[in-house]
Formats: sequence, structure tokens, C-alpha cells
Amino acid sequence: MAAERTLSIIKPDAVAKNVIGQIYARFEAAGLKIIAARMTHLSKNEAEQFYAVHKDRPFFKDLVDFMVSGPVMIQVLEGENAIAKNRELMGATDPKKAEKGTIRADFADSIDANAVHGSDAPEAATIEIACFFPALSIYSR
Ligand code: PPS
Repeated sequence: MAAERTLSIIKPDAVAKNVIGQIYARFEAAGLKIIAARMTHLSKNEAEQFYAVHKDRPFFKDLVDFMVSGPVMIQVLEGENAIAKNRELMGATDPKKAEKGTIRADFADSIDANAVHGSDAPEAATIEIACFFPALSIYSR
């Protein structure tokens, strides 16, 4: 099977907890390669654009406010079944429901501050990667 790509974001809560390295180690142990990465502090406009699909959901404002509350670490992961593999590593959206040993079970505090984002489908991954990384800044080997 061809390698797949997914967009991952380590959210402000996990960056503040200083666990970027621990989360990267989980990606690598699962066979996912980090082929692009950058730390940034999202603007309100960037966060609203990124989460535009959720604009009518009741938590939209809270989600945007949280995502601009501090720096985030954004990366492109590549590997076989990268989208599903990353979501398995992340665990359920609500850390209370996330399986033991997942990133959200281990590092997240609440459904708002839930440590990581991962694309949920190939079409979303393509759009989300293009939001943050021009093709020339992605280093697939
Ligand atoms: S998911 O992860 O996409 O399957 O889950 P979904 O339920 O569709 O949630 C979409 C994103 O919204 C975030 N979310 C919330 N934020 C704040 N408050 C509440 N109640 C809430 N519920 C869901 C959730 O973390 C998803 O963000 P990302 O960044 O995609 O993980």
C-alpha cells in the first residue's frame, strides 16, 4: 500500500505541558515519519478557517479560543494508513473516553483541551496539509 499523509497538530495544552517529544516518540514508534513540522501561534482568522467545517457547532467559539491560547506544533506524518494510525494513537476526542495508553488518555485534560488534532479522512488531510505547508516544505524520502 502507498504511504499516506496526515496533518497532526499538538495543541496549546500539550505544548504548554512540554510533551512534544513524548508525542513525537509515539508517532515514530508507530512507524509514522515526520516529513514537515513547524511551531506557530495561530491567529483567530487561521483557527476559524482551519475549523470552518465546525462553524455551526455549539463548541466552535470555545474551540477557536482554545486553539489561539498558545503556540501549537504542526506536522505532516507519513506512513502506511497514516490517518487511521494517528487517530488510533490519539484516542477518543473526549479524554475520559480515550483508551488507556493513547495520547489523549495520557496527556489531555478535557474535551476542550484534548492535546492533539489529526485529519479524519484523505480529502481532509490534503486540505489541512495545504493550509500550513507548501509542497516544497515537505521532505518525503
Ligand atoms: S473528531 O475528533 O473530529 O472526530 O471529533 P468531533 O466530535 O467531530 O470534534 C471536532 C473538533 O471539535 C473539537 N470538539 C470540541 N471542542 C470544544 N468543546 C467541545 N465540546 C468539543 N467537542 C469536540 C474536537 O476536539 C475536534 O477538534 P480536533 O482538533 O479536530 O480534534
